Order: sequence, then C-alpha cells, then structure tokens
Amino acid sequence: MTVLSVQDLQVHYRTSRGVAQAVRGATFDVPEGQVVGVVGESGCGKTTLARAIMGVMPKTAHTAGGKLVFQGTDLLSLSPRELASKRWREIAFIPQSAMNSLDPVYRVGTQIAEVLVDRGGMDRKSAMRRAAELFDMVGLDVVRLRDFPHQYSGGMRQRAAIALALALEPKLVIADEPVTALDVIIQRQVLDTFKDLQKRLGLSVILITHDISVVAYASDRVVVMYAGEVIESGTTREVLQRPFHPYTMGLYKAFPELHGGGTLVPIEGTPPDLIDPPPACSFAERCPFVEAACREMKPALAPVASGSLAACRRSPEADRLRVLAGEASTWLRS
Ligand SMILES: Nc1ncnc2c1ncn2[C@@H]1O[C@H](COP(=O)(O)OP(=O)(O)OP(=O)(O)O)[C@@H](O)[C@H]1O
Ligand SMILES: [Mg+2]
Repeated sequence: MTVLSVQDLQVHYRTSRGVAQAVRGATFDVPEGQVVGVVGESGCGKTTLARAIMGVMPKTAHTAGGKLVFQGTDLLSLSPRELASKRWREIAFIPQSAMNSLDPVYRVGTQIAEVLVDRGGMDRKSAMRRAAELFDMVGLDVVRLRDFPHQYSGGMRQRAAIALALALEPKLVIADEPVTALDVIIQRQVLDTFKDLQKRLGLSVILITHDISVVAYASDRVVVMYAGEVIESGTTREVLQRPFHPYTMGLYKAFPELHGGGTLVPIEGTPPDLIDPPPACSFAERCPFVEAACREMKPALAPVASGSLAACRRSPEADRLRVLAGEASTWLRS
C-alpha cells in the first residue's frame, strides 16, 4: 500500500530576482513500511519538498501545482487547521540541523514532555513517563532527560530529535539529513537505531540526504533529484547497481566507498539557475553524454529496463554509457 503519493509537485519561492522554481514536478510514492531515500546535491530542492509535505513553508514559498496524497487525502486540499491536526500525529519531521533545534535553556526531558502535552494532549505525568519510554527506544539513558542540550554529544542530540519525531506514533517520518553532521561511526550507530525502530514500528520514512552511501545503507527505495526534478527512482538495489540516468551514474562515481574504492570523481559544473531553468534536460550542461536533441526537449520520467524510472532520452543506451561513466576521464573536462 502507498502511504504518500507525491504527484507532479511544484514549489516556488518569491525572491528579489524573480520566482525560483525549487521543486519542478516531483513524482514518487512512499510504500507502507519502507524507507525512501531522497538524494541529490545541495540546492536540488530536498528540504523544500520536505517542508511542502509537512505544510511548514516560509511565507515566500507556495505550492504552484501537483498533489500530495497521504492515505487517500490530498494534503494540499486541506485547511491549515486540518493539516495541523495531521502534523506530528501522522506525519512527523526531523528537520535539517535538528541538532541545533533543541532549546538550550530547557532540559531535554522538559522539551519532549512539552511536545507530548501540547501536541498530544497528555497530562504532565504521563508525558514524562512517555519521554522516558522514548529515550529508552532511541538508545539514550533516561537519566539524561534531566540534562540540557549542551551536555549532549551530536549523536545524542540527533537521537533526541528522533525521539521527538516518534513521540506521537506517526505513520510517516520525514528525516532531513539526520546524520549529516555526525562522524561516520556515529552515523552508522544512529542509522542502525533508526532503521531498527522503523522496522519494529512499521514506519514509512522519507530519508533525505546528499550522501548516496547513506541511501545505500538505509533505504529500500531511492529518488534522485536534480534541479528540483526527480530524474530517477526505483529500488535502491536497481538504481545503485544499474543507474540509467547519467547524473545518478556520476553521483555514484562521486562516492568511491560504495564500489570498493577507486578515485573520487566529482561532477564538474553547477546546477542551472532555478529562476530561469532550461526548458529541456536540466542536466544537459554537465552531462558527458549530451547530444543536441537533449537541449531541445524535456525527457519524461519513464520506465526503463531495470524496472526503475528515469528521465533521460538516451536511457536505451544506458548499459553502454554506464561503462563509460565508470571511467574517470569521462567526467573530466579538458
Ligand atoms: N527561503 C527561500 N527563498 C528563496 N529561495 C530558496 C529558499 N529556500 C531555498 N531556496 C532555494 O530553493 C532551492 C532548493 O533549496 P533546498 O533548501 O530545498 O535544497 P536542498 O536540496 O535541501 O539543499 P541542501 O542539501 O543544501 O540542504 C535552492 O536553489 C535554494 O536556493
Ligand atoms: Mg536541505
């Protein structure tokens, strides 16, 4: 069953230079009980997507089109009040830089209990009991409920943020870069705890990261975003082992630890300006396999041989292009 279906979502920001099209037709599903990794480089629209689903966007942003069907209801058709009733109870959010989102002047336990009282309607005593239960679940010692945030390590703060998100037993959790600020060993530990809870509680998760190795480690499916668009999606196994979009091939090449070493090859160049994005393929400027026709027509996100979806007009040649993409020289511009 599909818990959330993101359909052709468009999100725009008003800026002094014009309208920035931060999300430009994102489409993907989150199946029940699965982790969907959303990956892409900085500025591709991941946080904007997350905030649109949560319905917490800055005043300068608005959804310009599409649907967000959550358990049969389009979230975009709900009143602010109806949406607020789902937030945290049914859809919870671990915001980017959640590590800094705890208030420094209050004890962590007090902050968690407050959420349970305010958003969950619990009385103070049950809230403290539930806070202890949550701490236990995320692998924190309950005595640390009495600490202030500055007494926590980065990993502990991230665990507390996970506890906060899980407080009201949501169906869907959106985690925006939950382990980015942590070192690799702590990343693994926090991801293991999170994965464990996800399985145990049957949570559906959108795991947002710029790090494809986090996706490889923790997600069942992957959605690759580029310049506000979804350019490839499918099972993690298929997308990472048999990418069909050159951007996914390049992203994979940029994380050598995923494929047993080799050289790190960054994708040269920068994504297009979202105020005036190209009408055709948005990756064309950086693509080593670009042809004249790629600059003329926008490729649709369509099924490819692996069972994934990819938006590249050269996808029928992907097996051959993938071999070329494996060579560092393909990505280096002379
Ligand atoms: N409040 C805002 N006003 C105007 N433009 C914005 C605003 N927030 C984000 N943007 C722009 O929207 C685009 C997408 O930004 P977003 O933060 O969603 O990207 P991201 O994928 O989360 O990046 P990162 O990996 O750095 O967190 C970027 O071009 C960004 O500059
Ligand atoms: Mg972000």
